[in-house]
Amino acid sequence: MNITPDSTPSSRRDFIKATGVVVGASALSGVVLPHVHAAGSDQISVALVGCGGRGGGAAGNAMSQSGPPKLVAMADVFQHRLDSAYNALKGKFKDQVDVPDNRKFIGFDAYKGAIDSLKKGDVAIFTTPLAFRWVHFKYAIEKGINVFMEKPVTSDGPTSRRMLELNKLAKEKNLKVSVGLMSRHKKCLQQLHQRIHQDKEIGDVMFMRGYRMQGLLGSAFSEKYPGKDNSLPGKPSELMWQISRFHSFIWASGGGYSDFNIHQIDHLCWMKSPPGQFLWPVKAQGVGGRTYRTSPDGKPYVDQNFDSYSVEYTFEDGAKLYMDGRCMLGAVPMYQSFVHGTKGMAIAAKSGDCNGPSSTFKGHVTSRDSLLWTSDAKMADDPYFNEWQVLTDAIRNDKPHNEVDRGVMGSLVTSLGRYAAHTAQEVTLDEMLNHEHEYAPGADKLTFDSPAPVQADANGFYPVPEPGRKTKREY
Ligand SMILES: NC(=O)c1ccc[n+]([C@@H]2O[C@H](COP(=O)([O-])OP(=O)(O)OC[C@H]3O[C@@H](n4cnc5c(N)ncnc54)[C@H](O)[C@@H]3O)[C@@H](O)[C@H]2O)c1
Repeated sequence: MNITPDSTPSSRRDFIKATGVVVGASALSGVVLPHVHAAGSDQISVALVGCGGRGGGAAGNAMSQSGPPKLVAMADVFQHRLDSAYNALKGKFKDQVDVPDNRKFIGFDAYKGAIDSLKKGDVAIFTTPLAFRWVHFKYAIEKGINVFMEKPVTSDGPTSRRMLELNKLAKEKNLKVSVGLMSRHKKCLQQLHQRIHQDKEIGDVMFMRGYRMQGLLGSAFSEKYPGKDNSLPGKPSELMWQISRFHSFIWASGGGYSDFNIHQIDHLCWMKSPPGQFLWPVKAQGVGGRTYRTSPDGKPYVDQNFDSYSVEYTFEDGAKLYMDGRCMLGAVPMYQSFVHGTKGMAIAAKSGDCNGPSSTFKGHVTSRDSLLWTSDAKMADDPYFNEWQVLTDAIRNDKPHNEVDRGVMGSLVTSLGRYAAHTAQEVTLDEMLNHEHEYAPGADKLTFDSPAPVQADANGFYPVPEPGRKTKREY
């Protein structure tokens, strides 16, 4: 889809007007929209596009809902990924997995076969790296299929604008669309949000902190591309190698900063936002760097990530959100989030992306004496299950449900912080949204023979950010 200059939101206010982001799902209330699933008809089929770790998890979450839903089609670019996901899911869910060989699809257009296997009211699951999100979403909208898509959903301005435009069509068609920012479906965080905004338990929110500081995560650190050798399994083309190591490449994933930190950034923005509103920071500045450029055994790393980031986001009212991300062996681990108000503070995620219990405190010291409230640690609260409960309920009972605008904004805010740290500039959200650098142009036209979207230099190193030197582009 082309985004014409006229349709590009040019200011924050225009943007909010264009997307309805501030009012979110409530924008749909009162509007008569076509039904996509007969209420009362329980059978929902799902198709899985991207059969990796999260894809298998999401398909399992879908099949654990009442009904129960069935998995009827699978798609991937690697046969071995599809096979192992199929075997694991078949072993666990047996008759709910009805995927004969003619509904298993391999290749860059495999998503079309999987989506074409569905009927209106069914759900396509998109759990590939984010570069393909808009491509798959566009086709699902054309076919009138509901979607569950994983986070992040974009890594740059052009695809963020494209996703927002596409989502207008999804809303027109009354499609139900979930985005895997599952913190929003975590009950203890929902209770905390109510305590902050309705009960005013910690006063006005002025300052938030998110930390994701761990060892060497996922595929964020890559040694040199080993080269293609068709006779050997496991030595794919450079494009396929980059896809399989997507955390290393900003075009594929937004890099480690986006992929690892988005949950905390997203749920802290939520904690700042009154009910029914979606407040986002208006600007960011940050620092970051790469301390180690070799593996522990001395082999050079060639990927595009920093190993440390500290980003300061600023909201319109001056409130701050700090996000610290670090991937480093031997450094102190910290994986939590905190909210500070004018009267007290809260622990949002006690550990991980959004694990409880959440708590509130009088003042800014966490102690037994200052504790005001803590969520029930025994409450059933699996956010990956909860988000599917909301989606299947919305489909069966035709409730408004579309998380794409805020999923795009959460992704854009995350990209904003990454971009600010990579360039060492203060960058506004509008500038990020309207930036023209698209990191994976032609993602809809890739084939097994395509060149990789980012090319190495003669020594096998990929272009990296140079803060203060490369200021208009990230790399
Ligand atoms: N919400 C969460 O907590 C959470 C957790 C993990 C991962 N994720 C997200 O899920 C996505 C996938 O992550 P993962 O850990 O499962 O990665 P993964 O590498 O295990 O799985 C990705 C799969 O997609 C396939 N794939 C890649 N490009 C494809 C294409 N064009 N068409 C079809 N298949 C394609 C890969 O071959 C692989 O099987 C990422 O966006 C990640 O951020 C979210």
